[in-house]
Amino acid sequence: MAKLLITGGAGYVGAVCARAARQAGHDVVVFDSLAGGHREAVSGELVVGDLRDRPALDAVLARGFDAVLHFAARMSVGESNEDPVGYFDVNVGGTLTLLEVMRAHGCKVLVFSSTCAIYGRPARVPLDEDLPHAPISPYGETKAVVERILALARPANDMRVTCLRYFNAAGAASDGSLGESHFPETHLIPLALEAAATGRPMTVFGTEHPTPDGTCVRDYVHVEDLADAHLRALDRMLAGHPGGAWNLGTAHGASVFEVMDTIERVTGHRVARTLGPARDGDPPMLVANASRAYADLGWRATRNLETVIRDAWGWYQSPRYGKR
Ligand code: UFG
Repeated sequence: MAKLLITGGAGYVGAVCARAARQAGHDVVVFDSLAGGHREAVSGELVVGDLRDRPALDAVLARGFDAVLHFAARMSVGESNEDPVGYFDVNVGGTLTLLEVMRAHGCKVLVFSSTCAIYGRPARVPLDEDLPHAPISPYGETKAVVERILALARPANDMRVTCLRYFNAAGAASDGSLGESHFPETHLIPLALEAAATGRPMTVFGTEHPTPDGTCVRDYVHVEDLADAHLRALDRMLAGHPGGAWNLGTAHGASVFEVMDTIERVTGHRVARTLGPARDGDPPMLVANASRAYADLGWRATRNLETVIRDAWGWYQSPRYGKR
């Protein structure tokens, strides 16, 4: 079993992965600034620190780790349009510091949280890994730049690197103990659950997209399925494989209306909605071709949209939901 440093392990996907890694028998230390993460999401050791704080990172990595799972990042597309420099500072600058410190301490295995946002408006759907990188937001740019840096650093620093490109991370731990709490919340599923719980309407961003019902189609992948993919990618590199890049999605698209309908069915509450204009920069359809992850990692998403929503609803109702 490996000794793992998990940056961003107090955040949404990171915390679920950190727990899965612990349950798989790994020895886990979480490094998180708590800028977006939550202390109570970490059950083991938490070192509070910022990626850009080299001495802090140095002190942790000096303890010796077999691998780093790197989740820490700013992750809102809309916010990245307002603050591109801040996004590059954390997502790219922070990763550069991490790579330098890993090199200094001889840590050579990295799993990086990437995103389908690196493909921008893809020329074909479903999206495979061979599509060109053409991000349309500063957020997507930061992830594409890091992937490029990693491609160069991998041979130069003698590293093994895996980039996992998530589609729409969704759902929560099945026991309702971990899930997403963003401030402000911008994601469809938590906002629609809020609408179901409160009766207050939410806005549908665009009903005239070139999709079957006119609303955007996305591929919602359960966060516990994402955790499983990370452990598979990690094990493969620890066994000597150089790594790679894989799309992680269910290969099934759901429209905004379909998500709302499923929420109504699962919760038994109506999701009141206002029909609004399209949100800037929203591609109409993003659905993964995840066949390569299956072929190479033996990974496929095992939880469907209904399970995503049932677990997200369990989390929404837990006393920990919405705590800063
Ligand atoms: N939507 C609404 N109303 C809302 C919020 C969202 O109609 O109030 C729609 C959006 O237009 C979109 C869909 O619901 O079509 C999903 O929106 P989210 O904000 O939940 O997720 P995105 O697809 O915009 O973003 C996700 C990740 C990003 C990642 C991006 C890739 O959150 O990190 O996918 O495009 F970069």
